[in-house]
Amino acid sequence: MTTFGTPLSPHATKVMLLGSGELGKEVLIALQRLGVETIATDRYDNAPGQQVAHHARTITMSDPAQLRALIEKERPHLVVPEIEAIATAMLEELEAAGIVRVVPTARAARLTMDREGIRRLAAETLGLPTSPYVFCDSLDELQAAIATKIGYPCVVKPVMSSSGKGQSKIAGPDDIQAAWDHAMAGGRVSHGRVIVEGFIDFDYEITQLTVRAKGADGQIETHFCEPIGHVQVSGDYVESWQPQPMAAAALRKSRNICKAVTDNLGLGHDGQPGGLGLFGVELFVKGDEVWFSEVSPRPHDTGMVTMCTQWQNEFELHARAILGLPVNTALKSPGASAVIYGGVDAQGIVFDGVADALRVPNTDIRLFGKPESFVKRRMGVALAFDADVNIARDNAKLAASRVKPHVV
Ligand SMILES: Nc1ncnc2c1ncn2[C@@H]1O[C@H](COP(=O)(O)OP(=O)(O)OP(=O)(O)O)[C@@H](O)[C@H]1O
Ligand SMILES: [Mg+2]
Repeated sequence: MTTFGTPLSPHATKVMLLGSGELGKEVLIALQRLGVETIATDRYDNAPGQQVAHHARTITMSDPAQLRALIEKERPHLVVPEIEAIATAMLEELEAAGIVRVVPTARAARLTMDREGIRRLAAETLGLPTSPYVFCDSLDELQAAIATKIGYPCVVKPVMSSSGKGQSKIAGPDDIQAAWDHAMAGGRVSHGRVIVEGFIDFDYEITQLTVRAKGADGQIETHFCEPIGHVQVSGDYVESWQPQPMAAAALRKSRNICKAVTDNLGLGHDGQPGGLGLFGVELFVKGDEVWFSEVSPRPHDTGMVTMCTQWQNEFELHARAILGLPVNTALKSPGASAVIYGGVDAQGIVFDGVADALRVPNTDIRLFGKPESFVKRRMGVALAFDADVNIARDNAKLAASRVKPHVV
């Protein structure tokens, strides 16, 4: 994109988000600041991003007909997937027909839509180190895979799921049945396929935010943010910080893996390396050893910490990169984030203690505005910066703990 139009005029530069949760909301705000006309799409009304966009649209994004109709009606310059459960084959069709550009590419959206596409790409096509794995379609296959190839402990996950849903760790044969049942109940689409992975006994795990952006000569350049450390409970992120200290060899290996994966995901249907945007690459690290786990071709939940640690946070980096603008991934200050959960199942909840939370030094807060709370739904995040990352972690957790969501 070389010229920028005026929003709500015939020459507007239009961007459509598919998925408008807390991550999409921040991308939309970043786009708004650049004078882009924004369309926030979600499966339910008043999603966080719909509250800050020019236009709000509610459709079933996994339905190809609905997705096509909406894109053909709105004719955005760019479509930005924010979630995985989208009719990605339709996006590929529309992109190939020249109707729309998908960020980073429709192919990347398809390959990362479930665990199989991206795992096979990383391990089998690119030869990157990953945990040992087998895909299984039944309890019998799962038992056989563990007995013959994977061993204990291992982790079972539905092929289509996120935020740890349907995931369990298996310590021995007695756990297999329960893990299978849990995966069947927790998968997003009940097609009964799981991945079983050998358990990696890592020292720590990171998200390496990686940005493909245009350089001055029009060539695509790869930029890296400082590594983000995080803690996951039951497969869901509860805390993150930046930078995560790393041995030089581990950092080098991590970035080589990120470059290989994002170079490949940046390839379009035409085989050209046109894909732009930010990726969140998840890696496990033990000493100097690094394993690729998975990648989001979009901002990452653990990357919310960058709202208080970088000059350009991950959402601004994504917005700038996809529009063909230059980026700056420099760190501003070490810092941390801590998740605020709903704690209750209810509509239209209220939050007490926000002022107390913000009295913790160098903190900030985001309340996402989700219309409905669940006990384990992420409703907000506390942010803290400090020259000492451990102080930032303590302060972010303290601030988060002071926010008290409750039913009116
Ligand atoms: N093979 C493994 N060995 C050790 N730990 C694992 C393994 N697979 C997953 N985990 C742990 O579970 C977490 C969640 O796993 P994964 O990222 O695959 O699931 P997810 O549902 O996609 O999560 P999210 O959407 O939050 O990223 C990982 O960040 C890691 O802490
Ligand atoms: Mg993950």
